[in-house]
Amino acid sequence: MNAVGHHSGTSTVSRRAIIPLLRRLRSAEGTANPRPVWAALHELGDIVPAPWGGYFVVGFDACDEVLRGRKWQSTDFAWQQRQGNPERWSDLATREMTRTLPRLNAPAHTCQRRAVGTPFDRASLEALRPMIAALVSSLLDALEAEIKAEGHADFMRIVGEQLPALSVGEWIGIDRADHAHLLDFTHRQVYAQELLPTRSQLAISEQATLEMREFFTTLIRERRARPGDDALTRWIAHFDALCEDRATADRTLYDLTMFVTIASLETSAVLLGNTVHLATSDPARAAWLAAHPEHIASTVEETLRWDAPISINSRVASEDLVLAGVPIPRDTTVHVMYGAAAHDPRRNPEPDTFDPLRRGGHLAFGGGLHYCLGAGLARLEAQELLGQVLKRFPTLRAVTPPVFDDTRLVFRRLVSLDVQI
Ligand code: HEM
Repeated sequence: MNAVGHHSGTSTVSRRAIIPLLRRLRSAEGTANPRPVWAALHELGDIVPAPWGGYFVVGFDACDEVLRGRKWQSTDFAWQQRQGNPERWSDLATREMTRTLPRLNAPAHTCQRRAVGTPFDRASLEALRPMIAALVSSLLDALEAEIKAEGHADFMRIVGEQLPALSVGEWIGIDRADHAHLLDFTHRQVYAQELLPTRSQLAISEQATLEMREFFTTLIRERRARPGDDALTRWIAHFDALCEDRATADRTLYDLTMFVTIASLETSAVLLGNTVHLATSDPARAAWLAAHPEHIASTVEETLRWDAPISINSRVASEDLVLAGVPIPRDTTVHVMYGAAAHDPRRNPEPDTFDPLRRGGHLAFGGGLHYCLGAGLARLEAQELLGQVLKRFPTLRAVTPPVFDDTRLVFRRLVSLDVQI
């Protein structure tokens, strides 16, 4: 999703000013609590020059403008070719990701997005609710069993990581026996979507990409042979009818199925872990929420505002533009900072106060043409989970602070959340 190119531009802030802040954001301290860094970024302005050229976009309105504006485009293959550093984009994992939905512009993006339709509209979500509720209930059984046996348990391993895999697995039709492998290669593949991946990170990503290819091409081949009642079966019928040849259909089906699946896993897991942790870390808040389940949905929204699972995303100016008063030449990359934007005090006063009744604004699911396809499903999972946790384990608390992966800048990963009841 992210891209760093070579550009020029003007702003009163030095291109080096952000370097120590980026270092802090990627430290153990910064990943555990990025809010002080976001506050420091807001001090520097709405948009802050990036050391390699281009800009980080920090202000809420400026981020919103980029995401919704048709003149800001995804960093697709055509943009990569115009850069002076082809080696940056030549590795297998990066090339694979550049074929996926968030990196496509019209008309390829429109074609894939149409094929998926709106799978999580209000009616579909209501139909899914009993299935999600049953999945949550069985995962909480497993959590309870381990806590009873051990005194504590890792919420992320038993519930947070499993629920998104089970939900998307039901929708696309992925066998439960494959979920561990799916989660494993998703965690490794994600480095190719980081801002400045190292060579060794790209090598990890490449190996994961090969495993991902094998997994999804086999899945598609087998589903074509044995259709079911699932989204993948419907996409196969759609693209087989639309594409001129089977190879094109297969390639598009792979890009779509692979991306939709991996896009739903880590992101939702972070939301689930954060929602339960933030709602229960203060006993008074947990008790109030248990008595007022009507505020569960807004607690989930405040969690998304508090800590956006995807922190940064890139776009490129398709012509000379002006953003927050700064001229942005054509082809310049801007990195939209979702987390920092939601902590813009002009949009959300006292941004570092977690307030489920705030009704504040956030951009955690993006905006515009690339707005997250699975936002409804992620919200449903988090709401159902929190409702059941509060009812069933009114005294659930974290034993130690949550642990975040500090090898990433873009994709937040909540590695573990040790809890007791
Ligand atoms: C809390 C959970 C999630 C978060 C925070 C999240 C966040 C995002 C964001 C920020 C984007 C926009 C990317 C861009 O503008 O380039 C996006 C796109 C996307 N998301 Fe999600 N997502 C989540 C869950 C899901 C789930 C559950 C699914 C699938 C069931 C999903 C599928 C997608 C897809 C396919 C896109 C690409 C849309 C496009 O480019 O047209 N996401 N997501």
